[in-house]
Amino acid sequence: MNILDGKKIAGEIQEKIKDEIGQLKNQTGKTPGLTVIIVGENPASQAYVRKKHRIAQKLGINSHIIELKAEIAAQDLIEQIRVLNQDPGVQAILIQLPLPENHNTWEILNHLNPKKDVDCFLPVNLGNILLNRAGIFPCTPSGIMQMLDYYRIDLSGLNAIMVGRSFIVGKPLASMLTNQNATVTLCHSKTKNLPGLVKQADLVVAAIGKPGFITADMIKKGAILIDVGQNFLYQQHEVLEFCIESQQQKFKKKGYGIAGDIHIKAYPKASYFTPVPGGVGPMTVAMLMVNTLKLFKRQYHLE
Ligand code: GUN
Repeated sequence: MNILDGKKIAGEIQEKIKDEIGQLKNQTGKTPGLTVIIVGENPASQAYVRKKHRIAQKLGINSHIIELKAEIAAQDLIEQIRVLNQDPGVQAILIQLPLPENHNTWEILNHLNPKKDVDCFLPVNLGNILLNRAGIFPCTPSGIMQMLDYYRIDLSGLNAIMVGRSFIVGKPLASMLTNQNATVTLCHSKTKNLPGLVKQADLVVAAIGKPGFITADMIKKGAILIDVGQNFLYQQHEVLEFCIESQQQKFKKKGYGIAGDIHIKAYPKASYFTPVPGGVGPMTVAMLMVNTLKLFKRQYHLE
């Protein structure tokens, strides 16, 4: 069983991006600009946004966070987006999801300039993935593809199962795997006989949000396991059941541990697996930086 070390690869990507941003700044006097809008006070979202901001700043990106109250009127939120759409110093805009329940996600997202859609969430950008014509890709699926590529895992002909059909991960990743000649089964909460389908898979991607949902007995020996789950656990018995050793230690100090959607007892059956944390999570953040740089280069015709 080999670890797909997202933390290491993300570090290497960040180094490259930092160098390139430095060079472009010397050549053009310009710096890529990323602005994140966060609405409401979801603690997990706040933590993710802080992390994105910290890393963006470290790489020399001009990074800003706009924090808005959950009760903000849709018109006011849309006005904020309009201002950013028109700001030439901002090439990349990210609206952190989920939005609070009082907002209609698509009513808001649709106001984003597609050229500044760093998440690749808008219909025109997602559509280009289906057509295999995309220039940028959503951050989590893109990070997963980068990791598989880094370890030279050939996807051609593999049976891949994608558990979870969100537009953030499941649907675009299913297309991207298909474009690399995998045979993809896209599963969700209504899928019949999920364990039987997982058992046939050479590549299992879990993006469900339930700790340890994919159990060891479901896994075919030698399968590749990709875990998108980042579940925060606060009960000791859950941490002991679902978390890797380092998170069990963290629980003693901080009172919580993070677990994936794939049960840790499945790891020994895998040929490769992504740990949680340290697998997909850091790659998602790294790909946000990659996308920000790409949008910047596009705006200034530097490609
Ligand atoms: N919420 C969870 N993942 C993501 C992501 O990749 N982008 C945005 N904007 N929100 C998210």
